Amino acid sequence: MKIQVISLFPKVFEEYFSTSMLRKAAEAGLFEYELVDLRGFGVGPRKQVDDTPAGGGDGMVLMVEPVVAAIEKCKESSPNAKVLAMTPRGQTFKQSDAQGLADEGRDLIIICGRYEGFDERIMDWVDEEISIGNYVLTGGELPAMVVADAVVRLIPGVLGGDQSAEDESFSDDKTREHPQYTKPAEFRGKKIPDVLLSGDHAKIAKWREENKS
Ligand code: ADE
Repeated sequence: MKIQVISLFPKVFEEYFSTSMLRKAAEAGLFEYELVDLRGFGVGPRKQVDDTPAGGGDGMVLMVEPVVAAIEKCKESSPNAKVLAMTPRGQTFKQSDAQGLADEGRDLIIICGRYEGFDERIMDWVDEEISIGNYVLTGGELPAMVVADAVVRLIPGVLGGDQSAEDESFSDDKTREHPQYTKPAEFRGKKIPDVLLSGDHAKIAKWREENKS
């Protein structure tokens, strides 16, 4: 799966995408990414990407030409990609959505909004508008990272087999997990539950099931 991210701040993705699980997934050839600088598609000598809202009002709106030009450029290498726009008015992103995108396996083009939003006309080039929650961020960069991370970890082969089975139980969109502990067995008087050190796998499984929240 190839994920292309269109942003005015492509640099903010570099560290995250080149670290940890996403790096391993990329190195294993399970996923590739490309960071696309929206500024490069700006209009005129000043590479303008935003302008005042038609009809007046505060703030700046991302212009339709640069956004559509960037999407079209991304489509040259991923003609069947699904185009996602990050916006607080979108559908709230859930585990089942991440699973759906991973299962579908289509390349993704993720557009990060800024300022007061996008010129509405870009929506003709967008398949889905996605919000990561009921709050307004300064831009779509963090939401794009959230969506990319949640999808990539579900691509078959990215995680170990055990973990992927566990994901099935998240299909109700509740991330039900049991508490985890590691060494030392006691820290400042706080002990790991005895059952976890008992070596009795049946009891441990029962305890974990009963302590999911
Ligand atoms: N852009 C600004 N806030 C956002 C949110 N909550 N989700 C997605 N994109 C956003």
